[in-house]
Amino acid sequence: MTSLPLRIGLVGCGTVGAALVELLTTQVPVIEARTGLRLEIERIAVRDPDKDRGLALMPGILTTDAHSVVTDPAVDVVVEVMGGVEPARSLILTAIECGKAVVTANKELLATAGAEVFAAAEEAGVDVLFEAAVAGGIPLVRPLRESLLGEPIRRVMGIVNGTTNYILTRMSEQGVDYEQALAEAQRLGYAEADPTADVEGYDAAAKCAILASIAFGVNVVVGDVYHEGITGIAATDIRYADRKGYVIKLLAVAERFVPELDRDPEPAEISVRVHPVLVPANHPLASVRESFNAVFVEGAAVGELMFYGRGAGGGPTASALLGDLIDAAVNRSKGSHATVGTLRSGRIRPIEDLDSEYYICLDVVDRPGVLAAVAGVFGRHGVSILSMEQEGLGDEAQLMFITHTARERSVRDTLADLRKLEVVHRIGSVIRVLGES
Ligand code: NAP
Ligand code: HSE
Repeated sequence: MTSLPLRIGLVGCGTVGAALVELLTTQVPVIEARTGLRLEIERIAVRDPDKDRGLALMPGILTTDAHSVVTDPAVDVVVEVMGGVEPARSLILTAIECGKAVVTANKELLATAGAEVFAAAEEAGVDVLFEAAVAGGIPLVRPLRESLLGEPIRRVMGIVNGTTNYILTRMSEQGVDYEQALAEAQRLGYAEADPTADVEGYDAAAKCAILASIAFGVNVVVGDVYHEGITGIAATDIRYADRKGYVIKLLAVAERFVPELDRDPEPAEISVRVHPVLVPANHPLASVRESFNAVFVEGAAVGELMFYGRGAGGGPTASALLGDLIDAAVNRSKGSHATVGTLRSGRIRPIEDLDSEYYICLDVVDRPGVLAAVAGVFGRHGVSILSMEQEGLGDEAQLMFITHTARERSVRDTLADLRKLEVVHRIGSVIRVLGES
């Protein structure tokens, strides 16, 4: 049985939008043959209609007027792949007001104004689908929203930014410098329009907020997520990690601190954070290379699940968009829509109140007594040292420590006092270490 076509208004036709157009070119007949659903691109909004996109587009399909696309009565579903908060937010809200389903890859927008968008969609009874917004081509949002909706999820942890994982892989495995690795990631279409979002951890923080919201049913915005990026990671840190049997990865962690009896309908306190981590080389996340992402979901009933695949790039992201488009078409034919449910407000545990092991690198004066002075400061704050080694001599001397599990607040106090020591020239990297818990 063939139903009415689902007419798509595409807003943005860059790396992701163009990949979706290409994927549709080959898959439309296949999807129609398998499901009876026919997908058609009706209109495409771009900034520059004269740009060569390497696509065979119907004449007149491009416009620079995105508003006219989202309000066009001939458009059933809007696919927003322009990025940024505005005008994307206003365009999506307008599309919803016009009764159109929305499919988006825009994590920055959802992690900023998701609650407003979901409430508007619920009110209008339309879909807002966003599989492509987190972890590229990996089906992760749908399993969390559907299969795991009733699961008491304790933790979601993983690598959710392809650009930084690509850069760290190239720096660790081939010794490529940071600037070159970033340029490669940009050329391969992994990076955001402004790659600061990737390398400073902002993109991963937005994804962490979305994951925490749907995993715990709590409204988490990007501003709630503690985040550090990878720009401070030095070749010394990578060499040290390798010598000690670790790999440095940028991890996003969303964690729920559960009370003794996990039956409280109110969400418990949560932690949401993104920062580099020394991951033991034998941990499954250590072998996630290049633009691949991997996410662990830990639930009280299901145990541990791992989702793995390409986290960035046009093709993988277009694949996620296409899955959502098919869902939107099916829902439309049934007169139903997907929902994220009610997002309650939750309490965020401050990073200072979390425990971790730490790697700390100090530039110091190379003379007798320095180690004792430094170790004394650690001791005064109750931060116990697991291992220490020195690299370099004289003015080049560096001390690298790994601590036992310590409270972040105590580590920060330790660092503040170390800065006051005349024998400490500089505090280099401070990177958390993935331990047993
Ligand atoms: P991109 O290559 O920069 O493409 C953005 C597109 O939006 C371009 O076609 C641009 O037009 C168009 N555009 C921008 N402002 C516009 C405006 N005011 N009116 C009309 N069109 C406008 O970005 P992208 O990499 O495809 O990413 C798009 C979205 O997907 C972002 O939200 C991003 O975070 C998300 N995402 C990207 C990836 C990835 O791997 N790249 C993966 C997952 C999610 P012109 O082409 O004429 O400049
Ligand atoms: N810039 C993002 C990344 C794209 O590198 O992961 C995928 O969301």
